[in-house]
Amino acid sequence: MKILITGATGLIGNELVKQLLAKNHSVHYLTTSKSKVVNKPNYKGFYWNPQQTKIDESCIYEVDVIVHLAGANIAKRWTNAYKQEIIESRTLSSELLYNLVRKHPNQVKQFISASGTAIYPESFATVYDETTTETEDSFLSNVVKKWEESANRFQVLGLKVCKIRTGIVLSNVGGALPEMVKPIKMGFGAAMGNGKQIQSWIHINDLVAMYCFAIENQLEGVYNAVAPNPISNQELTTVIAKTLKKPLFLPNIPHFVMKLILGEMSYLLFSSKNLSAQKIINNGFQFKFPKIKEALANLYS
Ligand SMILES: NC(=O)c1ccc[n+]([C@@H]2O[C@H](COP(=O)([O-])OP(=O)(O)OC[C@H]3O[C@@H](n4cnc5c(N)ncnc54)[C@H](OP(=O)(O)O)[C@@H]3O)[C@@H](O)[C@H]2O)c1
Repeated sequence: MKILITGATGLIGNELVKQLLAKNHSVHYLTTSKSKVVNKPNYKGFYWNPQQTKIDESCIYEVDVIVHLAGANIAKRWTNAYKQEIIESRTLSSELLYNLVRKHPNQVKQFISASGTAIYPESFATVYDETTTETEDSFLSNVVKKWEESANRFQVLGLKVCKIRTGIVLSNVGGALPEMVKPIKMGFGAAMGNGKQIQSWIHINDLVAMYCFAIENQLEGVYNAVAPNPISNQELTTVIAKTLKKPLFLPNIPHFVMKLILGEMSYLLFSSKNLSAQKIINNGFQFKFPKIKEALANLYS
């Protein structure tokens, strides 16, 4: 199959491209950096600028599936201007793709969009799955709602729409994990707040395998991309320290301290999301790293 990917140069996109090429799929990708456009056999880059509604329309040629990963990184200070960028980088880009598919002759059958777990209500004991209609009222939850609405529009064009609500992606080259590992490696590690907040995580290899699974099985609807065994922030901090063979002796860091440092973005460290992986498992997907100990050992041993 030929897959058009946005955000292909990011943390998840990079790994997804590797996997798709290894499976003999061919990849077109859209990038906002002209310097990242390369043209290799089965891997062809195209320039776009969603803010200026610019897109190289030839990117759609012979494409079967679109995977929309692009979006401004949420781990930067949430000023009002940056909040706007977080939203628009996902929705305007989706709209540009929508207009491309609508206007340009094509054979696209499926639209897969990255999405987030922030949409779910805060939870400790209650495990939420994809059937829940309850949502949280927070900035990031509202981003996810707008992001998913922009993906749903593709249904009007007769495409299958799949939304991958992704938890904390564990990778040793980017994202949240190296930021957690850094202080622990230096001997200054500590859990956040009371450490009870539940972190629904997924190993990058499992996430990428899930995207491939969604493509190869033409999945439709919402799927949580989280491992079947979420853990508390306290446990996660402890397992990281054990994996790195580092001591943990400092007291937990109070919420107000992180709020002073990070502002509203401290939400990322303190929100609690206890989420189910059952739907994708029921569809036949097998996790390679269902447990945190093995996932971290794979990344850091
Ligand atoms: N990593 C996680 O833990 C996690 C968890 C939940 C959801 N997600 C979501 O999954 C998607 C991919 O995540 P990731 O970790 O791979 O992100 P990433 O490493 O930050 O990469 C995102 C890519 O999006 C493109 N991009 C950045 N700013 C943009 C803008 N203003 N307009 C258009 N494109 C822009 C960039 O590609 P170019 O430079 O090539 O244009 C960038 O490489 C994101 O939407 C993210 O929110 C990630």
